Parts: sequence; structure tokens; C-alpha cells
Amino acid sequence: MQEWLKNAVFYEIYPQSFKDSNADGIGDFQGIIEKLDYIKDMGFTAIWMNPCFASPFYDAGYDVEDFYHVAPRYGTNEDLRRLFEEAHKRGIRVLLDLVPGHTAVTCKWFKESMKDEQNPYTNRYVWTNDLNTNQGEIRNLNGFIAGFSERLGACGVNYFTTQPALNYGFAKVTKSWQFEVNSPEATATRDELINVMRFWLGMGCDGFRVDMAAYLVKADDNEYTATIKLWQTIFRIIRPEFPEAVFVSEWGLAKQAIAAGFDMDFMLANSLSRYGDMCRCENSFFSGQSKVDITRWLEIYMENYRKTCEKGFICFISGNHDVKRAAYYLDDTRMRLMFAFIMSMPGVPFVYYGDEIGMRYIENLKSVEGGYHRTGARTPMQWNHSTNAGFSSASAEDLYIALDHSKDRPNVMAQQSEPDSLLNCVKELIRIRKENEPLQSEGEFVPVHINNQYPFVYLRKGNEKNILIAINPSEKTEECICSMETVKVLYHFHGEAVIEDNKLKVPPLSVSYIEVK
Ligand code: GLC
Ligand code: CA
Repeated sequence: MQEWLKNAVFYEIYPQSFKDSNADGIGDFQGIIEKLDYIKDMGFTAIWMNPCFASPFYDAGYDVEDFYHVAPRYGTNEDLRRLFEEAHKRGIRVLLDLVPGHTAVTCKWFKESMKDEQNPYTNRYVWTNDLNTNQGEIRNLNGFIAGFSERLGACGVNYFTTQPALNYGFAKVTKSWQFEVNSPEATATRDELINVMRFWLGMGCDGFRVDMAAYLVKADDNEYTATIKLWQTIFRIIRPEFPEAVFVSEWGLAKQAIAAGFDMDFMLANSLSRYGDMCRCENSFFSGQSKVDITRWLEIYMENYRKTCEKGFICFISGNHDVKRAAYYLDDTRMRLMFAFIMSMPGVPFVYYGDEIGMRYIENLKSVEGGYHRTGARTPMQWNHSTNAGFSSASAEDLYIALDHSKDRPNVMAQQSEPDSLLNCVKELIRIRKENEPLQSEGEFVPVHINNQYPFVYLRKGNEKNILIAINPSEKTEECICSMETVKVLYHFHGEAVIEDNKLKVPPLSVSYIEVK
């Protein structure tokens, strides 16, 4: 386990929308460099940046055209190297976004692969040998496209039809066009991926967030056995070369992702984790509606937590570029409770840019670069009261995605000068986490009162002290049995929780971090 992850707090940056330094309406590396002091001042220790590679942008850059060059809109490879250096000077690490499963249709590999004559890229993708696209369902493949290539065949895709699937082989070969995982064709793809990692890690990048990490080997079993094995091989090669590098997977099932060799995996709000019921749906538990059943989430979390303890981490996120922003579901007060929750859970917390000021999800925006419903969660960062909220000095029509137009849109500068702002609350919570070892990635997690009734209470156990977290998203005082004793209240918002007569009483809409014995 990487030492630096013990008290890491990540900030996710969608580079298009963070800060535009040259008035072309789109964010860039220089813009991010200009904001590193802000990121540091907030207490973040690392950045995950969404894909910044050359791309036709049919899926915001998750369709990579050239894995070895950044998209000119963001700057040059040299500028990215400078971003790594400037970040490192401030003690901040930078993870890039690695898309291992597919490329853009404009990628040179794919263009070669479409040709009729044999070449080194002929089998770089998952191709059938006829035009029959009705191949039935193949696990970890999102269908086939056909009718655009010189060669006869249909090509498997991973996500959009503009994202042809790279060939890492099939766990079970049942058709003549399928390759074994250990075939030279499949291992050539793997080796190229390792080269890509080496290239950026060698330049100073500190690791990768890995996109759709579970989707490499096709027709894999329910346990992802072959994909896990593939990642283990990759890590066996790359880790000794870059021992400090960190890899976080978009997998959504930590026990498998950590077994595959990732340092950490995201807690995603999907049907696998049931986490949506907690924070990310209408009437979620954190919104104060105790109508949802969170016991299933807890069960799944505890199973994954126990299986991954001491091997890797589960990452709680405030949101990301794929989902509606937290502020869509939670009011300002409950946003704070949510932040107090993710900042006191085991593993490594991630804050999505703008969530620290409660940026809104903007409904009904025209889709930009394959964003569709996600576009509203990707609007430009709101820095201050000046033109375009300080994001860019381009004219408003030239902005890559329209800004939140509401008059009362939140911004960084205003919140920095207001002691009780959400921004200052998040900053304080990060500071407290970094000062208290039990709250960090490795402190033990023990549920105290986690069921469908409020309050929501758990203990974080450290080497020297234990901290009780009591959160009450409801509008009345809630209590539960508790036989611990208060040593010191480390943090509270909206009134302190008190322990008396073996009962913990938690005021309405409050959170407390209490050192207990
Ligand atoms: C991941 C990304 C998402 C992208 C998809 C395809 O889920 O987070 O933004 O569209 O993979 O690469
Ligand atoms: Ca720019």
C-alpha cells in the first residue's frame, strides 16, 4: 500500500471546465497551474484529471486518438510536464485518466485495423469475420458496429459506437474470430498499454485513474477472473519500475478491483453498490427521507471493506463527471453532512471540482461532446464575480459549455471570504481529517447505528484514539444507544451531539466528530 495514500484527499478536475488561460473558451493546463495554490490551500493532496489526450471528443476525450500526445486545446506535452512539476512543488500529486479498453475511431491503430490488408493492427481490436452484428450478448462488450471498414467484419465497442474495443482476448473462446487471452494478438495490446503508462509515469505523472477497468477481457466470468489476472500481470511489470505510482479503478466492486492489484476503487452509485440510496437519488437517506433502505448498501460495503482491508481502499466521492451534482439532491446543509461523511470514511475521499462551493447541476443543457445528461455536471468552474465567473475571458457564446446563469450561482471568491461558507466547511473537514489519524484511510470503521433510522453513527478507531461520527440529516433530534464517553468534540456543525445516560443525542441537521473512550 502506498504510504502517501494514508492521508490523501483528491480533487477531480474536468480540464475543459476548470480554468481557461488563453481566452479560447476552454480550460487548459496553464489554467490548472494557475489554480494549484487554490487546490493546495483547500488541503487537497492530489488531483485526478479527466482525459487530456488527443481526441475527436465524441466522448469528452474518453475516445483517445493518440495515447502519447495531449490534445492541443490543453497545451503541449511539455505543458503537462510543467503541470506535474508545479504540482509537485506544492506537494500535490497528479493522476491522469487512462482509457485502456477502447480508442477513438480516429486513432491510427483503428484506421490501420480497418484496412483489408494484414498489418500489425489487424487484430488490435475485437473484430468478427462477417457483417452479422447480431452476435448475441458478450459480457463486457457493448455491441458491434459494421459497414464502415474496408475489411469484412464487425467491430465490438465498449461504450459509444465511436469507442471500438481493444483486443485483450476472450476468457472463453467460442468463435473462430476470438483470441485467447495469452495469444500474441492480445498480449500485444497489453504491452502497448504498459508502454503508455511508462511514457506518462516517466514524465512525472503519479499514477492513473483507470476507466472501465473491468471491461478488458471479453466473455469473462462473473468474478472477472481473466481480467483480474490481466491486471495482475500488468502491475507485476509496471509497479517495480514506478513503485510510488497509484492506480484507482472505475470498477465499482472493490474486492475484485483490489484483487486485480489496484490501490483503490470508487464507490459508485450503481445497482452493484446500492450507494445511490445513501446520497445520490431523490429521497436519499442523506436528504432526510428515511424511507429508503440503506441496510443493503451497508452490507455490500462491509463485505467489500473487510475483503480489502489492509490491501486497498474504497474511495468515497462527492460526485464525478458522469452523474448529477450532489447539490441536485442535497440542500446546502445536507451537502455539509455528506462532506462530513465522505471526509470521515475509510479509504480515500475525492471531491469533484465545484462541489466544494455547491455548484449546481444545470438541467436541459444541450449535449456537449457526448455529455448528454452529464453535460449539466460539467459546466465551467465559478471562481468569482467577474466575466464568465472568472473561468475565461472569452465571450460567453464561445464557452465550451454554458455557465450556470443563475444570479445567485456560488463562487470561490465569495465563499472564501465568508467564514460559514460550504467551501470553508469542506476546507475545515479536510484539515481535521489530515490532523486525526483515525479519520484517515486506514482507521478502522465500526458501524454503531447504521440502519434506516436516524441518526447515522459510526466509530473510527485509530492507534491512539477513537472518533465517533454522528450525523443527523433529519429535522428533529434523534438518538441511539451509546455507552461511550466524550473526551472532546473535534468538530460540529449545527449543534453538538451529547452522550448521557447511555444515549447519544444528535441535534437536527447536525454532524459531530467526537473523540470518545
Ligand atoms: C467511464 C467514464 C465516462 C466515459 C466512459 C467510456 O464511465 O467515466 O465518462 O464516457 O467510461 O469511456
Ligand atoms: Ca484555453
